[in-house]
Amino acid sequence: MLASVFETINFDIGGDVAVLTINRPAVLNALNRQTVAELFQAVREIGMDDKVRGAIITGAGPKAFAAGADIKELALMTPIEAQALSHQGHALMDAIENLGKPVVAAVNGYALGGGCELAMACTIRIASETAKFGQPEVTLGLIPGYGGSQRLPRLVGKGRAMQIILSGKTIDASEAWRIGLVNEVVAAPQLLDHARDVLKSLTVNAPVALRLAISAVNRGMESALGEGCALEADLFGLCAATADRAEGTAAFLGKRKPAFNGQ
Ligand code: CAA
Repeated sequence: MLASVFETINFDIGGDVAVLTINRPAVLNALNRQTVAELFQAVREIGMDDKVRGAIITGAGPKAFAAGADIKELALMTPIEAQALSHQGHALMDAIENLGKPVVAAVNGYALGGGCELAMACTIRIASETAKFGQPEVTLGLIPGYGGSQRLPRLVGKGRAMQIILSGKTIDASEAWRIGLVNEVVAAPQLLDHARDVLKSLTVNAPVALRLAISAVNRGMESALGEGCALEADLFGLCAATADRAEGTAAFLGKRKPAFNGQ
């Protein structure tokens, strides 16, 4: 499938990897409504394209991944419009989190507010040494609106999330790594290549198993342990019906590399 043409993001598909680049560097890649809508459309296209095994999300320019929702838009919104904006953001984050294919955030600079929320919706976060994270909404008289009040405590624990959200302060990449907000920190010039390597280390595995593992983790995180384990057993059973299971186990026993077809 050919990637659609967008105005505020670049959408490139090379081989089995899609790269989404937020492209509004003059405003530090702030996420206006159009950008959120375009990202949503691009993520849907990635989901429907069987040849694409995973995606990377990054920001254009050296300075920002995304410096949050567009404050020019936020400044003029009515309560109902702000609620709708939050719903629009939630739909995007949910689409990324539950895409069923790994999505790596390559965080190349500021990831603030909606930008931090976007990174948190991704499967894995790789940060450059220059990246900075925060939820500065309270400094604007707002609270996080794209899922930050929910995903941040799940990732780093309630106490740390409270401090980040209530102080509105920014933390650097090493602190983000220390508290578990990002998986790895690399030198800025290596960021995209490393993000590709990390993605490849996931997508080399059975596509259906990846999809079901993502579902087991995401749905299990919202369940009691017993329910989560029951879900895991069902999905484990489902894997046993797949050609990828047959191929993966046969390849191991035959001492060869598997060739998964995602069926
Ligand atoms: N929305 C709109 N424009 C933004 C923006 C944003 N979130 N962030 C930066 N910009 C614009 C600036 O207004 C500026 O534009 P002009 O050149 O026209 O003045 C340009 O980008 C460059 O920014 P700065 O001059 O401020 O750059 P800096 O290096 O001095 O500071 C920064 C960088 C600390 C990231 C600072 O830009 C900043 O604090 N940005 C706002 C961050 C923020 O509050 N984000 C949260 C938004 S609310 C939200 O996201 C709600 C939600 O959960 C959905």
